[in-house]
Amino acid sequence: MGNVFDRRTLGDLRGHVTRITERLLDRLQEHLRDAGEADFSALVSEELTIAAMGQWIGIPEADQPTVRSLSHTHLYSQELLPSPSQLSAADVGALGMRDYFTGLVRDRRAHPGDDVVSGWLRAWDELEPDREAADEAVYYLTMFIVGAALETTSTLLSNLVLVLDQHPDQRNWLREHPEQVPQAVEEVLRWDAPVHVTTRVAGEDTELAGVRIRKDEIVHALIASANHDPARFDAPEVFDIARAGRGLTHLAFGGGVHYCLGAGMARLQAGVLLEALLRRFPALRVSKPPEWEPRVAFRRLSALHVVEQ
Ligand code: HEM
Repeated sequence: MGNVFDRRTLGDLRGHVTRITERLLDRLQEHLRDAGEADFSALVSEELTIAAMGQWIGIPEADQPTVRSLSHTHLYSQELLPSPSQLSAADVGALGMRDYFTGLVRDRRAHPGDDVVSGWLRAWDELEPDREAADEAVYYLTMFIVGAALETTSTLLSNLVLVLDQHPDQRNWLREHPEQVPQAVEEVLRWDAPVHVTTRVAGEDTELAGVRIRKDEIVHALIASANHDPARFDAPEVFDIARAGRGLTHLAFGGGVHYCLGAGMARLQAGVLLEALLRRFPALRVSKPPEWEPRVAFRRLSALHVVEQ
C-alpha cells in the first residue's frame, strides 16, 4: 500500500482535524458550562477519531455513529480470552461491519472518484482480473483499517488527558513548553500503550530471547511490558516527557514490516488536540476514576469525566 499517510496527505488532513478539534472543544466548553462536568471520551476522543477517519476513507457523517459502535463490539474478537458473551457481541459487530463496508465498496465501484477507496479499487484491478475478488480484498482492507484506527486512537486521545492529570508537574511544564507536545504524545504512548499485546504464530522452530518456540506455536508479545523494560528505559515507571527527546523509541505502534500504517494519522490528531487543550483548557481536571472496557489487546477508555477547576 505504500505510505498512505505521507507528508502531503497529512498536510491536507491537518486543516480538517484542526477544524473538528476546535468544534468539539467548543462543545466540551458548553457542556462544562451547562452541566459542570463532561465525558471527554464520548464528547471529544471518539468523535475526533471517527470524523478524521470518515474524512479520509469517505464515510458520510450520518453513517459515522453506526460504524463507531460496530467497531466497539467487533474488536472483542481480538481479545486474548474473550468470554462467550463478548464473542457473540463481536459476531454481531463483524456482520454489521461486513454489511456496511461491502456496501461502501459497491458504491465506490459504481461511482469511482478520487477518494482512497476508489484508489485501492483501481490498484487492485491491476493485480486481480476478477472484479469480485478485487472488491472483496478492498472490503477487507477498508474494514480492517477502520477497525485498527478507531479504538486505538481514541484511547490515546483520552489518555493524553488522564496521564497528564496524574502528573500535574509535567502538565504545567508542558503548558510553558508547547513545542514539546510531540514528545508528550510519545511519552503517553510509551507509558500506557493503547494496544497492550500483539500475537504471532511461529513459521518455523526458533528461539526468542533464550526461549525455544516450536513451529505453529503462538507467541503473545506484550507491548506494554516492553515499553516499561528497565533494560531499555531508565526508571521506566517515571512519566518523563523529556525522555522522548533522547531518541529511545517505544513499541506502541509495533515494529518491523507490520509497523502501524496509521501512526502518522494518530500522531496528527493527538498533537493537534493536545496543543488546543493546553491553550484552551488550562484548568481541565479528571473528576472521577476512568472507566475501562475489560480488554487487554485493544484497550478502550469508555468514559473519562472531566471538570474545570
Ligand atoms: C494510537 C493509535 C494507534 C496505535 C496505538 C496503533 C497500534 C498498532 C500496532 C501495535 C500495530 C502492530 C500490530 C502487529 O504487529 O501485530 C498496528 C498495526 C496497524 N495499524 Fe495501528 N495503531 C494506531 C492507529 C492506527 C490508525 C489511525 C490506523 C489507520 C488509519 C492504523 C492502522 C493499522 C494497520 C492497517 C496496521 C497493520 C499493519 C500491517 O500489518 O502491516 N492504526 N497498529
